[in-house]
Amino acid sequence: MSQNQSPLPGQPHIARNGNALMVEQVSLEALAREHGTPLFVYSRQWMLDALAAYQRGFEGRDALICYAMKANSSLGILRVFAQAGCGFDIVSGGELARALAVGADPAKIIFSGVGKTRAEMRQALAAGIGCFNVESEEELDVLSEVAAAAGQRAPVSIRINPNVDPKTHPYISTGLKGNKFGIAHDRAVHAYRHAASLPGLRVVGIDCHIGSQITEASPYMDALERVLDLVQAIEAGGVPLHHIDFGGGLGIDYNGDTPPGADQLWHQLLARIDARGFGSRKFIIEPGRSLVGNAGVCVTEVLYTKPGEEKNFCIVDAAMNDLPRPAMYQAFHRIEAVSSSGHGQAKDYDVVGPVCESGDWIGRDRLLDVQAGDFLAVLSAGAYCMSMASNYNTRNRAAEVLVSGSRATLIRQRETIEDQLRNELAGD
Ligand code: LLP
Repeated sequence: MSQNQSPLPGQPHIARNGNALMVEQVSLEALAREHGTPLFVYSRQWMLDALAAYQRGFEGRDALICYAMKANSSLGILRVFAQAGCGFDIVSGGELARALAVGADPAKIIFSGVGKTRAEMRQALAAGIGCFNVESEEELDVLSEVAAAAGQRAPVSIRINPNVDPKTHPYISTGLKGNKFGIAHDRAVHAYRHAASLPGLRVVGIDCHIGSQITEASPYMDALERVLDLVQAIEAGGVPLHHIDFGGGLGIDYNGDTPPGADQLWHQLLARIDARGFGSRKFIIEPGRSLVGNAGVCVTEVLYTKPGEEKNFCIVDAAMNDLPRPAMYQAFHRIEAVSSSGHGQAKDYDVVGPVCESGDWIGRDRLLDVQAGDFLAVLSAGAYCMSMASNYNTRNRAAEVLVSGSRATLIRQRETIEDQLRNELAGD
Protein backbone atom coordinates (compact mmCIF):
# COMPACT_ATOMS: atom_id res chain seq x y z
CA MET A 1 0.00 0.00 0.00
CA SER A 2 1.59 3.31 -1.01
CA GLN A 3 1.80 6.23 1.39
CA ASN A 4 -0.89 8.42 -0.14
CA GLN A 5 -3.47 5.62 0.16
CA SER A 6 -5.89 5.75 3.06
CA PRO A 7 -7.27 2.36 4.08
CA LEU A 8 -10.98 1.98 4.78
CA PRO A 9 -11.92 1.23 8.40
CA GLY A 10 -11.20 -2.40 9.23
CA GLN A 11 -9.97 -3.05 5.68
CA PRO A 12 -6.21 -2.54 5.54
CA HIS A 13 -5.93 -3.70 1.93
CA ILE A 14 -8.78 -1.63 0.54
CA ALA A 15 -7.93 2.02 0.31
CA ARG A 16 -8.60 5.30 -1.44
CA ASN A 17 -5.85 6.63 -3.60
CA GLY A 18 -7.15 10.11 -4.31
CA ASN A 19 -10.65 9.35 -5.56
CA ALA A 20 -9.97 5.82 -6.66
CA LEU A 21 -10.82 2.82 -4.53
CA MET A 22 -8.03 0.26 -4.67
CA VAL A 23 -7.62 -3.36 -3.61
CA GLU A 24 -3.93 -3.61 -2.81
CA GLN A 25 -2.35 -1.79 -5.78
CA VAL A 26 -5.17 -2.34 -8.27
CA SER A 27 -7.93 0.11 -9.12
CA LEU A 28 -11.42 -1.32 -8.83
CA GLU A 29 -12.70 0.91 -11.59
CA ALA A 30 -10.08 -0.44 -13.98
CA LEU A 31 -11.06 -3.99 -13.06
CA ALA A 32 -14.77 -3.25 -13.50
CA ARG A 33 -14.11 -1.77 -16.96
CA GLU A 34 -11.98 -4.71 -17.97
CA HIS A 35 -14.11 -7.56 -16.62
CA GLY A 36 -17.59 -6.06 -16.35
CA THR A 37 -19.85 -6.12 -13.30
CA PRO A 38 -20.93 -7.54 -10.92
CA LEU A 39 -17.36 -8.50 -10.15
CA PHE A 40 -15.88 -9.98 -6.99
CA VAL A 41 -12.35 -8.82 -6.21
CA TYR A 42 -10.23 -10.37 -3.46
CA SER A 43 -7.03 -9.31 -1.72
CA ARG A 44 -4.62 -12.21 -1.37
CA GLN A 45 -2.67 -10.34 1.28
CA TRP A 46 -5.75 -9.89 3.48
CA MET A 47 -6.27 -13.66 3.45
CA LEU A 48 -2.65 -14.38 4.28
CA ASP A 49 -2.67 -11.80 7.08
CA ALA A 50 -5.85 -13.31 8.50
CA LEU A 51 -4.26 -16.76 8.38
CA ALA A 52 -1.09 -15.43 10.00
CA ALA A 53 -3.13 -14.23 13.00
CA TYR A 54 -4.30 -17.81 13.60
CA GLN A 55 -0.80 -19.14 13.04
CA ARG A 56 0.54 -16.73 15.68
CA GLY A 57 -2.18 -17.87 18.07
CA PHE A 58 -1.09 -21.49 17.70
CA GLU A 59 2.64 -20.93 17.57
CA GLY A 60 4.53 -23.84 19.13
CA ARG A 61 1.41 -26.04 19.19
CA ASP A 62 0.44 -29.11 17.25
CA ALA A 63 -2.34 -27.42 15.28
CA LEU A 64 -4.07 -27.75 11.94
CA ILE A 65 -6.02 -24.88 10.42
CA CYS A 66 -8.69 -26.30 8.13
CA TYR A 67 -10.20 -23.53 6.02
CA ALA A 68 -14.00 -23.99 6.00
CA MET A 69 -14.40 -23.69 2.27
CA LYS A 70 -18.15 -23.20 2.34
CA ALA A 71 -17.28 -19.55 3.00
CA ASN A 72 -15.74 -19.25 -0.45
CA SER A 73 -14.87 -22.35 -2.43
CA SER A 74 -13.57 -20.77 -5.63
CA LEU A 75 -10.49 -22.64 -6.77
CA GLY A 76 -8.35 -19.51 -6.87
CA ILE A 77 -9.12 -18.87 -3.20
CA LEU A 78 -8.59 -22.48 -2.17
CA ARG A 79 -5.21 -22.49 -3.85
CA VAL A 80 -4.02 -19.60 -1.69
CA PHE A 81 -4.81 -21.61 1.44
CA ALA A 82 -3.52 -24.93 0.09
CA GLN A 83 -0.20 -23.28 -0.78
CA ALA A 84 -0.07 -21.74 2.70
CA GLY A 85 -0.26 -25.26 4.18
CA CYS A 86 -3.87 -25.20 5.37
CA GLY A 87 -6.15 -28.17 5.54
CA PHE A 88 -9.79 -27.92 4.52
CA ASP A 89 -13.12 -28.40 6.24
CA ILE A 90 -15.53 -29.77 3.64
CA VAL A 91 -19.25 -30.53 3.77
CA SER A 92 -19.90 -32.38 0.51
CA GLY A 93 -18.39 -34.58 -2.13
CA GLY A 94 -18.33 -31.51 -4.34
CA GLU A 95 -16.19 -29.62 -1.86
CA LEU A 96 -13.88 -32.63 -1.62
CA ALA A 97 -13.41 -32.55 -5.39
CA ARG A 98 -12.58 -28.84 -5.17
CA ALA A 99 -9.98 -29.41 -2.45
CA LEU A 100 -8.34 -32.21 -4.41
CA ALA A 101 -8.38 -30.07 -7.56
CA VAL A 102 -6.07 -27.54 -5.90
CA GLY A 103 -3.72 -30.21 -4.62
CA ALA A 104 -4.86 -30.27 -0.99
CA ASP A 105 -3.28 -32.91 1.21
CA PRO A 106 -6.14 -35.41 1.80
CA ALA A 107 -4.81 -36.16 5.29
CA LYS A 108 -5.56 -32.53 6.17
CA ILE A 109 -9.18 -32.69 5.04
CA ILE A 110 -11.99 -33.04 7.56
CA PHE A 111 -15.55 -33.78 6.48
CA SER A 112 -18.32 -32.04 8.44
CA GLY A 113 -22.08 -31.95 7.91
CA VAL A 114 -25.24 -33.64 9.16
CA GLY A 115 -26.19 -35.46 5.97
CA LYS A 116 -23.27 -37.25 4.36
CA THR A 117 -24.42 -39.80 1.82
CA ARG A 118 -22.91 -43.26 1.43
CA ALA A 119 -21.49 -42.20 -1.93
CA GLU A 120 -19.79 -39.20 -0.32
CA MET A 121 -18.40 -41.43 2.44
CA ARG A 122 -16.94 -43.80 -0.15
CA GLN A 123 -15.47 -40.90 -2.11
CA ALA A 124 -13.82 -39.46 1.03
CA LEU A 125 -12.52 -42.85 2.18
CA ALA A 126 -11.01 -43.46 -1.24
CA ALA A 127 -9.32 -40.06 -1.09
CA GLY A 128 -7.90 -40.88 2.36
CA ILE A 129 -9.24 -37.86 4.25
CA GLY A 130 -8.01 -37.13 7.77
CA CYS A 131 -11.29 -37.22 9.67
CA PHE A 132 -15.05 -37.54 9.39
CA ASN A 133 -16.84 -35.21 11.80
CA VAL A 134 -19.87 -37.34 12.52
CA GLU A 135 -23.11 -35.71 13.62
CA SER A 136 -25.46 -38.53 14.63
CA GLU A 137 -25.42 -42.05 16.00
CA GLU A 138 -27.03 -43.39 12.83
CA GLU A 139 -24.29 -41.79 10.79
CA LEU A 140 -21.72 -43.68 12.89
CA ASP A 141 -23.36 -46.97 11.96
CA VAL A 142 -23.58 -46.14 8.27
CA LEU A 143 -19.99 -44.89 8.08
CA SER A 144 -18.73 -48.02 9.84
CA GLU A 145 -20.63 -50.19 7.38
CA VAL A 146 -19.36 -48.29 4.33
CA ALA A 147 -15.75 -48.28 5.58
CA ALA A 148 -15.80 -51.96 6.54
CA ALA A 149 -17.15 -52.84 3.08
CA ALA A 150 -14.16 -50.99 1.61
CA GLY A 151 -11.79 -52.85 3.97
CA GLN A 152 -11.04 -49.61 5.85
CA ARG A 153 -11.52 -48.04 9.26
CA ALA A 154 -12.80 -44.51 8.93
CA PRO A 155 -11.12 -41.92 11.19
CA VAL A 156 -13.92 -40.26 13.17
CA SER A 157 -14.60 -37.41 15.51
CA ILE A 158 -18.04 -36.80 16.96
CA ARG A 159 -19.50 -33.33 16.79
CA ILE A 160 -20.75 -32.37 20.19
CA ASN A 161 -23.48 -29.84 20.65
CA PRO A 162 -22.27 -27.94 23.72
CA ASN A 163 -25.53 -25.98 24.15
CA VAL A 164 -23.97 -22.55 24.42
CA ASP A 165 -25.38 -19.35 22.97
CA PRO A 166 -22.98 -17.82 20.44
CA LYS A 167 -24.91 -14.52 20.58
CA THR A 168 -25.24 -14.20 16.84
CA HIS A 169 -28.05 -14.31 14.24
CA PRO A 170 -30.36 -17.30 14.93
CA TYR A 171 -29.82 -18.70 11.43
CA ILE A 172 -26.09 -18.98 12.06
CA SER A 173 -26.20 -20.30 15.64
CA THR A 174 -25.44 -23.98 15.59
CA GLY A 175 -24.49 -25.05 19.11
CA LEU A 176 -27.82 -24.65 20.90
CA LYS A 177 -30.05 -27.54 21.97
CA GLY A 178 -32.67 -26.71 19.36
CA ASN A 179 -30.22 -26.84 16.43
CA LYS A 180 -29.94 -29.81 14.10
CA PHE A 181 -26.18 -30.01 14.54
CA GLY A 182 -24.08 -32.43 16.53
CA ILE A 183 -24.86 -34.96 19.22
CA ALA A 184 -26.28 -33.71 22.50
CA HIS A 185 -23.78 -33.24 25.28
CA ASP A 186 -25.59 -35.81 27.43
CA ARG A 187 -25.41 -38.49 24.73
CA ALA A 188 -21.74 -37.94 23.96
CA VAL A 189 -20.14 -40.54 26.22
CA HIS A 190 -22.60 -43.16 25.03
CA ALA A 191 -22.01 -42.23 21.38
CA TYR A 192 -18.25 -42.53 21.81
CA ARG A 193 -18.55 -45.93 23.45
CA HIS A 194 -20.69 -47.01 20.52
CA ALA A 195 -18.24 -45.58 17.95
CA ALA A 196 -15.32 -47.38 19.60
CA SER A 197 -17.18 -50.67 19.32
CA LEU A 198 -17.83 -50.43 15.58
CA PRO A 199 -15.54 -52.42 13.28
CA GLY A 200 -15.27 -49.82 10.51
CA LEU A 201 -14.35 -46.85 12.70
CA ARG A 202 -11.23 -45.52 14.38
CA VAL A 203 -11.97 -42.78 16.92
CA VAL A 204 -9.48 -39.94 16.56
CA GLY A 205 -11.04 -36.81 18.01
CA ILE A 206 -13.88 -34.64 19.20
CA ASP A 207 -15.30 -31.51 17.60
CA CYS A 208 -17.76 -28.71 18.07
CA HIS A 209 -18.84 -25.61 16.18
CA ILE A 210 -21.16 -23.21 17.93
CA GLY A 211 -22.08 -20.69 15.27
CA SER A 212 -20.80 -18.03 12.95
CA GLN A 213 -20.02 -14.29 13.08
CA ILE A 214 -19.19 -14.61 16.78
CA THR A 215 -17.80 -11.32 18.05
CA GLU A 216 -17.05 -12.17 21.68
CA ALA A 217 -14.66 -14.60 23.34
CA SER A 218 -17.12 -15.73 26.03
CA PRO A 219 -19.15 -18.25 23.95
CA TYR A 220 -15.87 -19.91 22.96
CA MET A 221 -14.76 -20.02 26.60
CA ASP A 222 -18.08 -21.60 27.61
CA ALA A 223 -17.93 -24.18 24.82
CA LEU A 224 -14.32 -24.94 25.66
CA GLU A 225 -15.11 -25.88 29.26
CA ARG A 226 -17.92 -28.14 28.13
CA VAL A 227 -15.84 -29.86 25.48
CA LEU A 228 -12.92 -30.40 27.84
CA ASP A 229 -15.30 -31.85 30.46
CA LEU A 230 -16.41 -34.31 27.81
CA VAL A 231 -12.87 -35.18 26.76
CA GLN A 232 -12.24 -36.14 30.38
CA ALA A 233 -15.41 -38.20 30.63
CA ILE A 234 -14.89 -39.95 27.28
CA GLU A 235 -11.28 -40.82 28.04
CA ALA A 236 -12.25 -42.00 31.52
CA GLY A 237 -14.62 -44.36 29.70
CA GLY A 238 -11.64 -45.85 27.86
CA VAL A 239 -11.76 -44.04 24.50
CA PRO A 240 -8.62 -41.94 23.89
CA LEU A 241 -8.98 -38.78 21.80
CA HIS A 242 -6.06 -37.66 19.72
CA HIS A 243 -7.32 -34.27 18.62
CA ILE A 244 -9.75 -31.56 19.72
CA ASP A 245 -11.47 -29.53 16.99
CA PHE A 246 -13.08 -26.26 18.08
CA GLY A 247 -14.74 -25.44 14.76
CA GLY A 248 -14.84 -21.97 13.25
CA GLY A 249 -17.14 -19.04 13.78
CA LEU A 250 -14.97 -16.04 14.55
CA GLY A 251 -16.64 -12.91 13.22
CA ILE A 252 -15.38 -10.02 11.11
CA ASP A 253 -15.97 -6.29 11.05
CA TYR A 254 -19.01 -5.64 8.83
CA ASN A 255 -20.24 -2.49 10.49
CA GLY A 256 -17.94 -1.52 13.32
CA ASP A 257 -18.06 -5.04 14.83
CA THR A 258 -15.12 -5.68 17.10
CA PRO A 259 -14.41 -9.41 17.26
CA PRO A 260 -11.26 -10.43 19.13
CA GLY A 261 -8.21 -11.01 16.93
CA ALA A 262 -7.65 -14.68 16.13
CA ASP A 263 -4.27 -14.55 17.87
CA GLN A 264 -5.70 -12.95 21.02
CA LEU A 265 -8.64 -15.32 21.11
CA TRP A 266 -6.42 -18.37 20.84
CA HIS A 267 -3.90 -17.13 23.38
CA GLN A 268 -6.81 -16.77 25.78
CA LEU A 269 -8.33 -20.16 24.95
CA LEU A 270 -5.01 -21.97 25.01
CA ALA A 271 -4.17 -20.48 28.41
CA ARG A 272 -7.31 -22.11 29.74
CA ILE A 273 -6.61 -25.35 27.85
CA ASP A 274 -3.11 -25.41 29.39
CA ALA A 275 -4.53 -24.76 32.84
CA ARG A 276 -6.77 -27.78 32.42
CA GLY A 277 -3.84 -29.92 31.31
CA PHE A 278 -4.77 -30.42 27.65
CA GLY A 279 -2.16 -28.13 26.12
CA SER A 280 -0.18 -30.81 24.32
CA ARG A 281 -3.12 -32.18 22.33
CA LYS A 282 -3.44 -31.73 18.62
CA PHE A 283 -5.84 -28.86 17.88
CA ILE A 284 -7.91 -28.40 14.75
CA ILE A 285 -9.92 -25.33 13.89
CA GLU A 286 -12.29 -24.66 10.99
CA PRO A 287 -12.37 -20.93 10.29
CA GLY A 288 -14.17 -19.74 7.19
CA ARG A 289 -15.45 -16.16 7.26
CA SER A 290 -12.54 -14.80 9.29
CA LEU A 291 -10.07 -15.98 6.62
CA VAL A 292 -11.81 -14.47 3.61
CA GLY A 293 -14.69 -12.18 4.61
CA ASN A 294 -12.99 -8.82 4.48
CA ALA A 295 -10.66 -9.86 1.68
CA GLY A 296 -13.45 -9.43 -0.87
CA VAL A 297 -15.57 -6.72 -2.40
CA CYS A 298 -18.29 -6.91 -5.01
CA VAL A 299 -18.14 -4.15 -7.60
CA THR A 300 -21.46 -3.27 -9.13
CA GLU A 301 -22.65 -0.64 -11.61
CA VAL A 302 -25.46 1.79 -10.90
CA LEU A 303 -28.12 1.19 -13.56
CA TYR A 304 -30.73 3.73 -12.49
CA THR A 305 -31.62 6.03 -9.66
CA LYS A 306 -35.28 6.42 -8.89
CA PRO A 307 -36.96 8.77 -6.46
CA GLY A 308 -39.76 6.96 -4.63
CA GLU A 309 -42.58 8.42 -2.56
CA GLU A 310 -40.96 7.30 0.65
CA LYS A 311 -37.49 6.29 -0.47
CA ASN A 312 -34.95 6.82 -3.16
CA PHE A 313 -33.76 3.71 -4.90
CA CYS A 314 -30.34 3.10 -6.34
CA ILE A 315 -30.74 0.16 -8.70
CA VAL A 316 -27.51 -1.69 -9.32
CA ASP A 317 -26.54 -4.68 -11.46
CA ALA A 318 -25.70 -6.95 -8.51
CA ALA A 319 -28.61 -8.65 -6.78
CA MET A 320 -29.64 -11.09 -4.10
CA ASN A 321 -28.44 -13.93 -6.30
CA ASP A 322 -24.90 -12.50 -6.08
CA LEU A 323 -25.09 -11.10 -2.53
CA PRO A 324 -27.66 -13.20 -0.68
CA ARG A 325 -26.74 -12.21 2.89
CA PRO A 326 -28.91 -9.08 3.25
CA ALA A 327 -32.00 -10.92 2.00
CA MET A 328 -31.29 -14.03 4.08
CA TYR A 329 -30.04 -12.58 7.36
CA GLN A 330 -30.77 -8.85 7.11
CA ALA A 331 -26.98 -8.63 6.99
CA PHE A 332 -25.20 -5.30 6.71
CA HIS A 333 -22.48 -4.73 4.12
CA ARG A 334 -20.81 -1.34 3.78
CA ILE A 335 -21.23 0.24 0.35
CA GLU A 336 -18.61 2.64 -1.00
CA ALA A 337 -18.37 4.65 -4.19
CA VAL A 338 -15.59 3.22 -6.33
CA SER A 339 -14.69 6.69 -7.52
CA SER A 340 -15.56 9.25 -4.87
CA SER A 341 -15.52 12.42 -7.01
CA GLY A 342 -19.29 12.61 -6.62
CA HIS A 343 -21.90 14.69 -8.38
CA GLY A 344 -22.77 17.03 -5.52
CA GLN A 345 -26.16 15.37 -4.94
CA ALA A 346 -25.82 12.98 -2.04
CA LYS A 347 -29.10 11.33 -1.10
CA ASP A 348 -30.35 8.60 1.10
CA TYR A 349 -30.87 5.48 -0.99
CA ASP A 350 -31.95 1.91 -0.67
CA VAL A 351 -29.49 0.04 -2.87
CA VAL A 352 -31.39 -2.72 -4.61
CA GLY A 353 -30.84 -5.26 -7.38
CA PRO A 354 -32.80 -6.15 -10.50
CA VAL A 355 -34.34 -9.36 -9.09
CA CYS A 356 -38.10 -9.37 -8.89
CA GLU A 357 -38.44 -9.62 -5.12
CA SER A 358 -38.87 -6.92 -2.51
CA GLY A 359 -36.28 -8.85 -0.51
CA ASP A 360 -33.71 -8.05 -3.18
CA TRP A 361 -31.90 -5.28 -1.36
CA ILE A 362 -28.20 -4.88 -0.72
CA GLY A 363 -28.17 -1.91 1.62
CA ARG A 364 -30.83 0.28 3.18
CA ASP A 365 -30.74 4.00 3.90
CA ARG A 366 -27.27 4.66 2.55
CA LEU A 367 -26.08 8.18 1.90
CA LEU A 368 -24.64 8.09 -1.62
CA ASP A 369 -23.76 10.62 -4.27
CA VAL A 370 -24.37 8.53 -7.36
CA GLN A 371 -25.79 8.48 -10.83
CA ALA A 372 -26.25 5.82 -13.50
CA GLY A 373 -22.94 4.49 -14.76
CA ASP A 374 -21.10 4.89 -11.45
CA PHE A 375 -19.55 1.90 -9.78
CA LEU A 376 -20.14 0.95 -6.15
CA ALA A 377 -18.20 -1.51 -4.03
CA VAL A 378 -20.08 -3.73 -1.60
CA LEU A 379 -17.57 -4.52 1.13
CA SER A 380 -16.97 -7.61 3.29
CA ALA A 381 -18.12 -9.75 0.38
CA GLY A 382 -15.38 -12.38 0.52
CA ALA A 383 -17.36 -14.91 2.57
CA TYR A 384 -20.74 -16.49 1.91
CA CYS A 385 -21.46 -14.43 -1.18
CA MET A 386 -20.01 -16.15 -4.25
CA SER A 387 -20.33 -19.53 -2.54
CA MET A 388 -24.04 -18.91 -1.96
CA ALA A 389 -24.69 -17.24 -5.31
CA SER A 390 -27.49 -18.64 -7.43
CA ASN A 391 -28.94 -18.28 -10.89
CA TYR A 392 -32.27 -16.93 -9.69
CA ASN A 393 -33.98 -14.92 -12.44
CA THR A 394 -31.60 -16.76 -14.83
CA ARG A 395 -28.83 -14.37 -13.94
CA ASN A 396 -25.30 -15.45 -14.78
CA ARG A 397 -23.03 -15.72 -11.78
CA ALA A 398 -20.36 -13.04 -11.46
CA ALA A 399 -16.68 -13.14 -12.41
CA GLU A 400 -13.94 -13.13 -9.75
CA VAL A 401 -10.49 -11.58 -9.64
CA LEU A 402 -7.69 -12.25 -7.17
CA VAL A 403 -5.33 -9.34 -6.51
CA SER A 404 -1.80 -9.76 -5.25
CA GLY A 405 0.11 -6.47 -5.06
CA SER A 406 -0.21 -4.87 -8.47
CA ARG A 407 -1.23 -8.12 -10.15
CA ALA A 408 -4.83 -9.02 -10.84
CA THR A 409 -5.72 -12.55 -11.96
CA LEU A 410 -9.11 -13.61 -13.24
CA ILE A 411 -10.00 -16.69 -11.16
CA ARG A 412 -13.56 -17.20 -12.42
CA GLN A 413 -14.94 -16.24 -15.78
CA ARG A 414 -18.35 -14.69 -15.81
CA GLU A 415 -20.93 -17.41 -16.34
CA THR A 416 -22.70 -17.38 -19.69
CA ILE A 417 -26.26 -18.24 -20.60
CA GLU A 418 -24.86 -21.25 -22.50
CA ASP A 419 -23.32 -22.47 -19.22
CA GLN A 420 -26.70 -22.17 -17.57
CA LEU A 421 -28.67 -23.93 -20.28
CA ARG A 422 -26.14 -26.72 -20.90
CA ASN A 423 -27.72 -29.34 -18.64
CA GLU A 424 -31.34 -28.58 -19.32
CA LEU A 425 -33.67 -30.54 -21.52
CA ALA A 426 -36.85 -28.88 -22.71
CA GLY A 427 -38.47 -32.26 -23.37
CA ASP A 428 -40.88 -33.06 -26.21
N1 LLP B 1 -17.32 -25.51 10.69
C1 LLP B 1 -18.61 -25.87 10.59
C2 LLP B 1 -19.03 -27.22 10.98
C3 LLP B 1 -19.53 -24.95 10.07
O1 LLP B 1 -20.82 -25.30 9.97
C4 LLP B 1 -19.12 -23.66 9.68
C5 LLP B 1 -20.06 -22.68 9.13
C6 LLP B 1 -17.75 -23.35 9.81
C7 LLP B 1 -16.88 -24.30 10.33
C8 LLP B 1 -17.19 -22.03 9.41
O2 LLP B 1 -17.75 -20.99 10.14
P1 LLP B 1 -17.19 -19.50 9.99
O3 LLP B 1 -15.78 -19.49 10.51
O4 LLP B 1 -17.24 -19.16 8.56
O5 LLP B 1 -18.12 -18.70 10.80
N2 LLP B 1 -24.08 -18.30 5.38
C9 LLP B 1 -23.93 -17.73 6.71
C10 LLP B 1 -22.90 -18.46 7.52
C11 LLP B 1 -23.17 -19.93 7.65
C12 LLP B 1 -22.12 -20.67 8.42
C13 LLP B 1 -22.30 -22.13 8.31
N3 LLP B 1 -21.30 -22.92 8.97
C14 LLP B 1 -23.60 -16.25 6.58
O6 LLP B 1 -23.52 -15.75 5.46
O7 LLP B 1 -23.46 -15.55 7.58
